Amino acid sequence: MSKKKIAVLASGRGTNLQSIIDGVKSGQINNAAIELVISDKKEAYALERAGNNGIEALWIDPGAFPGHAEYNNALLQEMHKREIDLVVLAGYMRILSEGFVKAYKDAIINIHPSLIPAFCGKGYYGERVHMEVLEYGAKVTGATVHFVDEGTDTGPIILQKAVEVDREDTVQSLAKRVLEVEHTLLPLAVDLYCRDRLRIQGRRVDIETE
Ligand code: GRF
Repeated sequence: MSKKKIAVLASGRGTNLQSIIDGVKSGQINNAAIELVISDKKEAYALERAGNNGIEALWIDPGAFPGHAEYNNALLQEMHKREIDLVVLAGYMRILSEGFVKAYKDAIINIHPSLIPAFCGKGYYGERVHMEVLEYGAKVTGATVHFVDEGTDTGPIILQKAVEVDREDTVQSLAKRVLEVEHTLLPLAVDLYCRDRLRIQGRRVDIETE
């Protein structure tokens, strides 16, 4: 099986990107090569992480395009140029266009810091997710890796793991524990994808064992 070529889209500090970089390096992620990291934010530390690891890093400025569709077409062109197989959204703060999602059907994965379908959808990103969990009084939250479809956080779920909410938790302490779980789940999901172990059956993703 030829190596899957991965592109990562990230808007921020890129700790999830780092977990994939480390996973490929350590051999936890098999059959994969990270070809490209793209950010919509010039100052995203994710770009530096890519550079530090010899991975091509591009800042593509949304402001340089007339609209959402044009921007996404530009992203798509970069993907096609490098024959990217898998797109990973690792803290990417924009919604992909329908055209992009169609072009990479069942080949885009996202990490979300809650147990979908709770605390997800439009507007649920960053600290807001954990704030809502605390305000709601939920006893359990967690992380979800899922395929991306045309909706927001609605695609088939690949992996989930729960994190208990403590009485003393703040947004920061909860975010930290959830992030640790994200860093274990995302490389696992990327490895399963790259080894062709994921089968989408309607809403359900079955994981094939060897
Ligand atoms: C993570 O919590 C991820 O779940 C969410 O955005 C955050 C990105 O963190 N989509 P990082 O940039 O990977 O450190």
